[in-house]
Amino acid sequence: MKKNDIGVIGMAVMGRNLALNIAKSGYNVAIFNRTINKTKDVMLKCSEKNISPYFLIQDFLRSLKKPRRILLMVQSGQATDDIINVLTPYLNSGDIIIDGGNSFYKDTIRRSKDLLKNNVSFLGVGISGGEYGALNGPSIMPGGQKSAYDIVKPIFKSIASKFKNQPCVAYIGPNGSGHYVKMVHNGIEYADMQLISEVYIILKNIVNYSNKEISDVFDIWNQGELNSYLIDITKNILRKKDHNGDLIDYVLDEAVNKGTGKWTCQDALDLHESLNVITESVFARYVSSLKSQRMLASKILSGPNVSLVSSHKDDFIEDLRKALYLSKIIAYSQGFSQLGSASKKYYWNLKCHEIASIFRSGCIIQADFLNQLVEIYKYDNIIINLLLSPYFQDISKQYQSSLRKIVSYVVKQGIAIPALVSSLTYYDSYRTSQSSANLIQAQRDCFGAHTYKRNDKSGVYHTNWLE
Ligand code: 6PG
Repeated sequence: MKKNDIGVIGMAVMGRNLALNIAKSGYNVAIFNRTINKTKDVMLKCSEKNISPYFLIQDFLRSLKKPRRILLMVQSGQATDDIINVLTPYLNSGDIIIDGGNSFYKDTIRRSKDLLKNNVSFLGVGISGGEYGALNGPSIMPGGQKSAYDIVKPIFKSIASKFKNQPCVAYIGPNGSGHYVKMVHNGIEYADMQLISEVYIILKNIVNYSNKEISDVFDIWNQGELNSYLIDITKNILRKKDHNGDLIDYVLDEAVNKGTGKWTCQDALDLHESLNVITESVFARYVSSLKSQRMLASKILSGPNVSLVSSHKDDFIEDLRKALYLSKIIAYSQGFSQLGSASKKYYWNLKCHEIASIFRSGCIIQADFLNQLVEIYKYDNIIINLLLSPYFQDISKQYQSSLRKIVSYVVKQGIAIPALVSSLTYYDSYRTSQSSANLIQAQRDCFGAHTYKRNDKSGVYHTNWLE
């Protein structure tokens, strides 16, 4: 009987589409799902001959070539632990478990250690691209034992999205690193989405544009340096109709999340990374979910009346474009800086040019401007801040006044734009040679004898400030 090259467990949309993608690439795929009906449903709808359904985990495992390659596409958290526990008694030395879900990287490190006790390899693999990407080519971020990665590499290379014929997959590093990179990818995704939605609300409420006009603006921007998957889908989303009119106007304004953005921010705090644009984007989702409170507050709390942009609209929109681009650069540079810190802390030796390179197609944050990141990191893998690279220095010189104009205009209108504001705040904080932190140090020393350093001589000092 023919043996299967790989088994996929979890037939929700991502698992099913990845199984189909692997089968389309010519591999024999075994599929399994906890509830039998989902597996049957996949078989009813798919025409691939090289997918075989299994309804007993033992049969599923027996059908696999050795060493067995088992891709888990189940919910992160307890469900992942549960399925690993089910598999463990049947696993043999050399088998490879691949977790393709959005797992927390510390869970991945723990699972990897546990499985290694039985000589079972564990790959924590970030997979981005949503349902379409899973089927047609995602961006893949594998972390774990390199020897295990080498065994699954041919499959990943054939199913990954291609950027100029190059598969968007690269070995990220030891265990946990693949899921870490995916986590930060998602943090950047949150910031990108928040920035775009702030621009949308500005065009809607201050420029007074219709959805169609806003879509046209994004369409034009998508043909230039802002070209990206997220701008592209936004343009299309704004054109979608339903029987009432534009569908976007009927979508409830409460953004939910599955936690990857929050994890990115929590980790940034541990690493002392100033990840304020991504963090504000997570907070913006939290505030959005307070719909009933916001409805109440809108009647109670006062603010200015919005004065529409009536003249020089084109100039305003060009400033908005520049503000968005510079803010996007700042969000990415914060995310990549965090990758650098994590790499140092965990000795992962992350290669930022390869990470930027595999983000160029297949994933949610794919964007033209990643080409710049690839070039910058090729020359300098540990550049302390992307803003200091000659290309981004130049952009910031040209664009910072636009970001400033937009932020000050919109803030005066009382419209919340937390990600744009925090981009500018970060920019100005970062370029400040003399900050206000001297006063904080003096206050700490004053009330708690925490000591302070001086800028005119070395050493550590304490002063009785109130004497
Ligand atoms: C991807 C996405 C994907 C996930 C979104 C949604 O890269 O394909 O990131 O993994 O669907 O991150 O996450 P939230 O529900 O937290 O917005």
